[in-house]
Amino acid sequence: MENPIKNKNILLGVTGSIAAYKAVELASQLTKAGSNVDVILTPAAEKLVSPLTFRSVTGKKVFTDADLWDTTSHIAHINLALPADIMLIAPATASTIAKLAHGQADNLLTLTALAIRCPLVVAPAMDTGMYSNAFTQENLEILEKHDITILGPDEGHLASGLSGKGRMLEARVLLGSLRFLLSRENPLAGKKVIVTAGGTQEPLDPVRVLTNHSSGKQGYALAQAALDAGADVTLISAPTSMTPPEGVKTISIQTAEEMHTAMLKEIKQTDAVIMAAAVADFRPTSKKAEKIKKEGKLSEIELEATIDILKELGEWKRSHKPDLVLIGFAAESEKLVENARKKLEQKNLNLIVANDISRNDAGFAVDTNAVTLLFKDGKRQDLPLQDKEAVAQKIIDILIQFMQS
Ligand code: CTP
Repeated sequence: MENPIKNKNILLGVTGSIAAYKAVELASQLTKAGSNVDVILTPAAEKLVSPLTFRSVTGKKVFTDADLWDTTSHIAHINLALPADIMLIAPATASTIAKLAHGQADNLLTLTALAIRCPLVVAPAMDTGMYSNAFTQENLEILEKHDITILGPDEGHLASGLSGKGRMLEARVLLGSLRFLLSRENPLAGKKVIVTAGGTQEPLDPVRVLTNHSSGKQGYALAQAALDAGADVTLISAPTSMTPPEGVKTISIQTAEEMHTAMLKEIKQTDAVIMAAAVADFRPTSKKAEKIKKEGKLSEIELEATIDILKELGEWKRSHKPDLVLIGFAAESEKLVENARKKLEQKNLNLIVANDISRNDAGFAVDTNAVTLLFKDGKRQDLPLQDKEAVAQKIIDILIQFMQS
């Protein structure tokens, strides 16, 4: 499945808040992601950012109130409204929110918002006092009652110099939210998928851990690809520097044991599990309460085995839920196919993604991956070196086939 915002018609309404400058970044990011972005500015927005600024990033004509009264453009608001897949008003001022809540249409943007047949999304931006004002709150409630999605606002520094709730969400977050909203009817709609990611950390003392080089990149890419395919995704993540995709439910854990506990809580309502995490096989027998000191001359660390989460899931699948789809990863430095196939069988998996960790352009902590896919029925597919997002999309395409068969 490709990015759900690609080739979509997105109407971006911009109103008169200073956060209008962030909408330029959003229009730019959406255009780069392949969306077809039509921007409508209110007269107040035009005072803050020029139509030319938006035109420069979208490469398209930008619409203003001049188009309402222009004799050459025929019913601009209807022509903009009908082809739209989604309309986002970002930033949305208290005034525009009030107009939307009461069906007022006194400029091209609010007229178009009344005329659309697609979902409407609103990202408020205003001073904290205006946001918490009872009228604004009631207006927002009205919008929600009519299935209009409200995104934000965030807390933080405001243009007034004050700090509080009222900041428009960042462009990256708004783009991620549109991506999520536009994916909800894709083939995995209604399916629950768990993805695990990152390398677990097993504490030795309050400052030291045993861990591995997993960056979490492949797991996070899989979570995004599963969301793009329409699934409800739970990401059980060990510590990483990655930002979870918008729309995912993230459970942050540190150790293999915590990952196991989180998994048990979620598994019953789940249709598929993708174990991309590098789970520690061993952990220190006991975690020291105080920092181990140099003078102690530590010469040995006593280790014990952790639970094999995927193996346990494979057994549970056999006895309780035969249609649960299990996808595992195999990190191998030798005999890639032979060792991975053993794991596929021992853990009762539908598919195993075998990673040759002896290569330095694939596997741990790099942006690319070259994997061999081994299926339960004996089939094998070698994927060429490509970025982890592309690998994730291929794996999710296979998951869609499993779910449909
Ligand atoms: N796995 C797991 N629980 C563990 C260890 C691994 O669920 N305690 C999962 C991993 O997430 C992966 C698969 O099992 O999807 C295989 O992991 P890998 O580390 O390649 O193999 P191991 O089974 O740990 O065997 P070995 O380390 O001996 O190769």
